[in-house]
Amino acid sequence: MKKVICSAVALAIAAGTFMSCNNGNGSKVLNKDKPLVFFNRQPSDPSTGEIDMNSMNWNDKTYYVGFDAAGGGAVQGKLIADFLSTADPAAIDRNDDGTIGYVLCIGDVGHNDSKARTEGIRKALGTWDGSTDPGKVKEGSIKVGGKEFKVVELEGKAMTGTDGSTWNANAATEAMGGWATKFGTAIDMVVSNNDGMAMGCLQASNYPAGVPIFGYDANADAIEAIGAGKLTGTVSQNVDAQATATLQVLRNLLDGLSGRDVVESGIAKPDKYGNQISAAVDYIPATKALLAQNTGVNASNWKLYTAGQRDPLVKQTNAPEKKVLLTIYNSADNFLSSSYLPALNYYAPLLGLKLTVVQGDGQNESSCLDKFTNFGNYDAFAINMVKTNSGRDYTDKLKY
Ligand code: BGC
Repeated sequence: MKKVICSAVALAIAAGTFMSCNNGNGSKVLNKDKPLVFFNRQPSDPSTGEIDMNSMNWNDKTYYVGFDAAGGGAVQGKLIADFLSTADPAAIDRNDDGTIGYVLCIGDVGHNDSKARTEGIRKALGTWDGSTDPGKVKEGSIKVGGKEFKVVELEGKAMTGTDGSTWNANAATEAMGGWATKFGTAIDMVVSNNDGMAMGCLQASNYPAGVPIFGYDANADAIEAIGAGKLTGTVSQNVDAQATATLQVLRNLLDGLSGRDVVESGIAKPDKYGNQISAAVDYIPATKALLAQNTGVNASNWKLYTAGQRDPLVKQTNAPEKKVLLTIYNSADNFLSSSYLPALNYYAPLLGLKLTVVQGDGQNESSCLDKFTNFGNYDAFAINMVKTNSGRDYTDKLKY
């Protein structure tokens, strides 16, 4: 029952249900039939990581846009192993005990990205013991400058803030301060599942100067820190490709495309406006997911990742304006607020999309859900949830 007359819509609104009267081309679209893209936080079970296909199958216009999380974990692990393979053993093993000790900032134990990175890092260092939980590790081994060393994960911590928010940079500063005191020169390396926490570690007043430290995200401040020789490496999850793909999929659906065209137009081939994202973005049909690829960033290539580089192949179009309501789980998340949101704000007007952005506190789903409302004003939705298993809370609101 897609077509409803406007008076019926008015009655429905008066009765407390919400639907759109006019989508701009004369037809009427119910909220439940509008395009919906989950991004960055893939609907999934926080303990098993299993994808929440109920949310992904909400309607035939539901997709996920993110990046290859498992591949990214492997890229981060390789970046670290490659660094060690050519490093000077005498400089790395600070207390000369034949063991490389490292500490790990996990982020959010229930987040697929955290899990993938913990796994990639531990596998590269040989400390993987079949689990991404804090402390579930075994002794590993790795070559440093051609010489074999034991590897020990001294401690891994989730990094939850005092307000309950995850991936918390302040928690990382505090943890690093404690680790530096507790482990002293047994710490030979610091590894973090995102740049926000890595930069947080560097803020600790007793950070052991010169100890190599790795992050993830290629945020602007992290790239600068690589240039300044403070951060050793990070991984780019290609925020521009992700932000454009999120917007492009919405644009395609709003333009009435269907089938493979939804996930290929403007992505794997030019769209009808002549735009095409430069980077590769892969489509995984089983999970309705579009995934950008990761690249390692270190002292050899950081200049390519400095701020302000936007995709030159995505240009201003004359696409008719459409309105999108978009949620971000935590206004204080370094990656989402300092990298993703500026990219969205840059590309959205080019694609004729007007964004209304609501941001949460990273802790309570209600901080986003309460502002996820007035659906009749919007043509499409983009959702970044506080908890990865909250998809249904959003789709339930769109039922009417
Ligand atoms: C990013 C983290 C961020 C998290 C939030 C991850 O993909 O790498 O920096 O905190 O998403 O969901």
